[in-house]
Amino acid sequence: MIQGADPREQMVKKEWLTWAGAAVVAVGVMFPLYNYWLDTNRTRTPIISPMQRAYPEAVAIMQAKCFACHVPDVEKPWYYPLPGAHQVMQADIDEALGKLNMEEAFGREPASVPDSMLVKIEKVLKKGSMPPLKYVALHWSTRLSDHDTAVLTQWLSDLKARKAETMAVWYPGVDVNHMTWRNQPVWPVPTRVPTDPKKVALGQRLYFDTRLSGDMTVSCASCHGLNKGGGDRLATSTGIGGQKGPINAPTVFNAVFNHKQFWDGRAADLVEQAGGPVTNPLEMGATWPQVLTRLKADSQMVAEFKAVYNGAIEPAHIQDAIAEFEKTLVTPDAPFDRFLKGDASAMNDKAKAGWALFKSVGCINCHGGVAMGGNTFERMGLYHDYFADRAGGKVTDVDMGRYNVTKVESDRHKFKVPTLRNVATSYPYFHDGQVTTLDEAVRKMGHYQLDRELTDKEVAELVAFLQSLTGHYMGTPVDQLK
Ligand code: HEC
Ligand code: HEC
Ligand code: HEC
Repeated sequence: MIQGADPREQMVKKEWLTWAGAAVVAVGVMFPLYNYWLDTNRTRTPIISPMQRAYPEAVAIMQAKCFACHVPDVEKPWYYPLPGAHQVMQADIDEALGKLNMEEAFGREPASVPDSMLVKIEKVLKKGSMPPLKYVALHWSTRLSDHDTAVLTQWLSDLKARKAETMAVWYPGVDVNHMTWRNQPVWPVPTRVPTDPKKVALGQRLYFDTRLSGDMTVSCASCHGLNKGGGDRLATSTGIGGQKGPINAPTVFNAVFNHKQFWDGRAADLVEQAGGPVTNPLEMGATWPQVLTRLKADSQMVAEFKAVYNGAIEPAHIQDAIAEFEKTLVTPDAPFDRFLKGDASAMNDKAKAGWALFKSVGCINCHGGVAMGGNTFERMGLYHDYFADRAGGKVTDVDMGRYNVTKVESDRHKFKVPTLRNVATSYPYFHDGQVTTLDEAVRKMGHYQLDRELTDKEVAELVAFLQSLTGHYMGTPVDQLK
């Protein structure tokens, strides 16, 4: 009886098995296809700047061998949707984008690609460590040939040469090719950047003018005091009516060197930025018609705008003048600048040891360039979750950082790296203003950004180095401005 089951029953069972098998196969095929469809529909073409197109070979190599992991939402290899491969690759992509978004390099004009990116790419080319081995094993054609490496190395050195063009503007009359700091990842702060003195004078008055705020109590200087390291020394700013803002005020000193403005980079430059605070309800809380009416009632202002802009008072001119004034807020001649220019006695031994550490442990990866920051967006908490560890454990909107602008997942918690110029004067630290001392800021950087618990000696040396970054504004040290 057990042996000889009812043949009809067996038929049904077989049929059922066939259907089940078909269903498994269908799901097994359809699921990856469906995923693939989803992914290809999210695929976009990376942004490549016109000047970068002058390097078609370098672009083509990176496109074929690097972009899949280092540019958000671009085309992936065909096997990306397959179960298993998908998970492994996605983990790699998240890590890769956390470390380097290559669109940030290719989307810019060659002269403005930050050194930190060039240095990172140079490093992996020398080591031959990219693309990662397990990826190359799966996809042999992505291996970098000697020819590829040579092309990319040439591209990097061309981009570096382009920097000389920028330098020629910033350091007029200086033969940059013969400067001792030519190949350092940080350059001295230029004595000044070119400006129009008439606009500067007008912009300076507007910067200190409370008529730009709703209740005439707040000016730009209220939150960006030149005698307070260019900020307000509060954890988060206080706007009109004593309202608490959500985020720390960055310094205006050397902001002209920032690649973008604001912690999340939502303003392209100083002109665009200057429009923000005036109408921001938590900051100056005014309306443009209100401001224009007040300024137009002042005959001297009317005359000045006429003289400088050959026209009426309007928001675009106000923003332009303020931005022009901000370009004068550069702070040259820090001990470190004098040291870079060849004066070995400008820094003490502790600070010199700090500079060596700054480079060797990798602070320089993010805090490079003239301003030692301001030119890339980096994730806060690259190795450990800063936000989970923070007192209260609550994550706010502004904590999302760059994500708020791009809505790209890998931009979550990325912030424009703050400048370290005059950093000893611009406490408290971080976008949330939660850290009050340099000592603690440095320790946290080691832990969260480098996965390194710095020793007390290392911290002391790094802090001594950071203290040597205080420059001069109009001849006076920034920490002595009244
Ligand atoms: C399969 C994904 C993948 C591909 C393809 C890939 N990378 Fe990466 N990349 C990663 C991962 C994961 C990391 C982070 C781990 C690490 O630093 O080793 C990373 C890190 C980097 C870094 C940062 C290193 C640092 O110290 O901050 C650079 C630079 C880099 N990759 C360059 C490249 C270049 C150039 C290519 C193309 C030749 C490339 N990558 C291709 C996954 C990839
Ligand atoms: C109520 C305080 C307050 C006032 C008033 C104020 N700011 Fe700010 N400022 C801030 C805060 C806070 C931020 C950071 C906001 C962010 O990144 O989201 C900021 C950012 C900036 C930045 C960007 C710096 C960087 O590194 O990204 C500049 C430049 C700046 N302000 C200039 C000005 C100017 C010019 C005015 C006057 C028109 C002004 N601010 C008025 C608080 C203020
Ligand atoms: C991976 C990139 C990265 C590395 C590496 C890095 N930093 Fe930072 N640093 C940042 C970012 C991003 C912030 C802003 C974080 C925030 O506001 O939440 C920051 C903030 C700071 C600040 C506070 C500045 C201010 O005005 O708020 C100091 C000081 C600092 N870093 C020093 C260092 C030192 C010293 C090292 C090396 C031990 C280092 N950083 C390594 C990205 C980095």
